[in-house]
Amino acid sequence: MCGIVGYAGNRDALAIIIGGLESLEYRGYDSAGVSVYEGGKVDTTRATGKLIELKKALEGRKRSGIASLGIGHTRWATHGRPTETNAHPHTAGRVSLIHNGIIENYLPLRAMLEAKGCTFLSETDTEVAAHLLNTLLAEGFEPLEAMRKMCAQVKGSYAFLAIDSKHPDRVLVAKNSTPIIIGKGDGENLIASDIPAVLQHTRRVIVLEDGDLAQVTADAVYIENQGKEVRRKEETIAWDPITAQKGGFKHFMLKEIYDQSRVIGDTLRGRISEHDASVKLPELETLRDKASSIKRIVMVACGTAWHACLEGKFFLEEFAGIPCEVDYASEFRYRSGLIDKDTLVIAVSQSGETLDTLGALEAASGKGMTLAICNVVGASICRKAEMVVYTHAGPEISVASTKAFTTQLVALQLLALFLAEARGTMSVAARRHVLHAMVELPAALSQTLKVDGEVSSVAKRFFQARDFLFLGRGRCYPIALEGALKLKEISYIHAEGYPAGEMKHGPIALIDESMPVVMVLQREKPLFEKTLSNLKEVEARGARVLVVTDATEEDLRGVHAEGLIRVPFVAHELSPILLNVPLQMLAYHVAVLNGTDVDLPRNLAKSVTVE
Ligand code: F6R
Repeated sequence: MCGIVGYAGNRDALAIIIGGLESLEYRGYDSAGVSVYEGGKVDTTRATGKLIELKKALEGRKRSGIASLGIGHTRWATHGRPTETNAHPHTAGRVSLIHNGIIENYLPLRAMLEAKGCTFLSETDTEVAAHLLNTLLAEGFEPLEAMRKMCAQVKGSYAFLAIDSKHPDRVLVAKNSTPIIIGKGDGENLIASDIPAVLQHTRRVIVLEDGDLAQVTADAVYIENQGKEVRRKEETIAWDPITAQKGGFKHFMLKEIYDQSRVIGDTLRGRISEHDASVKLPELETLRDKASSIKRIVMVACGTAWHACLEGKFFLEEFAGIPCEVDYASEFRYRSGLIDKDTLVIAVSQSGETLDTLGALEAASGKGMTLAICNVVGASICRKAEMVVYTHAGPEISVASTKAFTTQLVALQLLALFLAEARGTMSVAARRHVLHAMVELPAALSQTLKVDGEVSSVAKRFFQARDFLFLGRGRCYPIALEGALKLKEISYIHAEGYPAGEMKHGPIALIDESMPVVMVLQREKPLFEKTLSNLKEVEARGARVLVVTDATEEDLRGVHAEGLIRVPFVAHELSPILLNVPLQMLAYHVAVLNGTDVDLPRNLAKSVTVE
C-alpha cells in the first residue's frame, strides 16, 4: 500500500526521502508529499499523481540550506479521493504527520477535535492523528509522551511518522499492525515502511513490533513498548534491491499469495461487530433503506472478478434471499438486461478501469441501483457507480490476480450479510456464526499457506501435462474455474474448469492417463458424496487425480489420489477462499517449472482498458 520514508542525519533529507520513495514506487500510489526541516522551519509540499509531480512542485520552492530531518509519503487512497489536500503529510500546528493503515474511530475523534476548535482540511482518517498529537503537545506533553497518549486514543492499524517543529532533531514513530522498519546508519538513521527504501544507505535494519513507539535522531534510536524501553534485534539484509521489493520472494505473485492473510484482515477491519452480529458499511447507508425493495441482483465483471461474482451469488442468494444473476461485462453491456429500479447492479473490478465492466455499469446507470466493489479508490468504475465498497488488497502487481480475488470474496460476504441484516433474512445467531468464522479467516489462511511445500512437490509431478481439468460442485465450481484460469494464464497450459456433475455430458471424453484432474472437494453435504462419485468416475478412466479439500482424513478414507492437499476448515461459506489458495500455488509452481514469465505472462495486461 502506501510508502513511508523518514530521515534524521546530516545529509540532505529531501534527496534521501525522494530516493527512498522512488524505490517504493512498485507498491502503487496516487499522490505523494514530504515535510522537511530546513532553514529553521518545517516545509511541507504535496502533489497528486506520481513522484515526478512532487519533484516539479519542489523545484518551484526556494531552498534555504540542507534539510537535516524529514518525512515523506506515497499515498494509495483509502479514506478520501487522491487529491493534494488528502495527500500526506498532514499538518496541524507544530505537527507534520504521515500514516499507513486505517484509523477506525476517526469519526468520533474528529467530532471531539472539532468541538475543541480544530479545523479539518482533508477527508482522511489520518488528519485526526495530526490534530490529536498537536493538541497534546500544546497541552505541554513531551513529544514521546504526546505520541503515547495519541496512540492510546486511536483504534485501528497504523504506522505513524511525525515531526514536531519545536523538536526538529527527531522523528517520532508508532506501529500497530502495519509494517515499519528502522535503517541504522553512521551519524544518520532512516525509517521506512519497507526495506528497499533504506538499502541504498544501510543494510542494518530493525523491524518494529506491534505496540512499539520510537524516537529516532541522527545518533540514537530509542524504542519502547507499553511505556518500557525495549531492545529489538538488528538484522543485516543481504537482498539485492529487486528481491527486496518482492519482500524476499522470487516473484510478486508468490508475495501476493502470501499477503492474503493480512489483506483479508485489512478488508474486514472496522467493518464487523460480533457483539451485535452486524456489518458496518457506512458507505451503503442509502442502500439499507432500499434493501427490502431489491427484487433482483445482476453482477457484472471480467475474468477473475467474474469468478468472484459466481461465488458471490451463493452468499447473496443464501444470506439476503435475493435472486442473483452473473454476467460477463462484455456480454451484458450490449443487451438490455431488463434492468429496472428494483434491480441492484454490482460491478466487481480490481483495477476499476476495465473498459467492459465500466461499459456494463454505464449501460445500467439511470435504470437500476449501481454498486461497485473495487480495489482502487477514485477509479473510473467507482466514479460511475452510485455506491462503492472498497477491498483493501493494496496494489496488486503481478498480472495474475490472487489477493484481489480473495478480498473480493470477503467484500461480497460483507455485502451479503449487510443486506441480510437490512432485509431481516438471517437470524442474529446465523449472522454471528458467519461473522465469527470471518474473524478466524486471516489465521486460517496463514495456516493454509503451509501447504506450499506439498503443492510444490505435486507440481513437479504434473508440470509437463498439456491439459488439465478442474472440477468442483456448488461453491467449489467457481473455484475450479478460477484454478483453471490461473494455470492457463501463467503457464500457458490448456486448462478447463467444469461443474463436476456436468463432466459426464461431454468432457469425460477427454479423460485418459495423460490428463490431470484437479478435484476441488468441499466437505459440505450432500455435495461431498456427489463429488466423490464424480471422482470415482474420473479414477475409473485412468485420470491422474489431485484432490484439494477441507475434508477430514476420515472423510477421505477410500479416496485414492496421486496428490491430496488438505486445507483447514472454518465454515462451509468460507471454505472456497481457503480451497483457492493451493490452486494459486499450483499455477505458480507449474509456471516456474515451465520457465514462463510469472509476473508478466505473454499477451496479458494488468488493466484491460480496451474492448
Ligand atoms: C486474471 C486476471 C483478469 C482480471 C480481469 C478483470 O488473473 O487478473 O482476468 O481479473 O481482467 O480485471 P479487473 O478486476 O481489474 O476489472
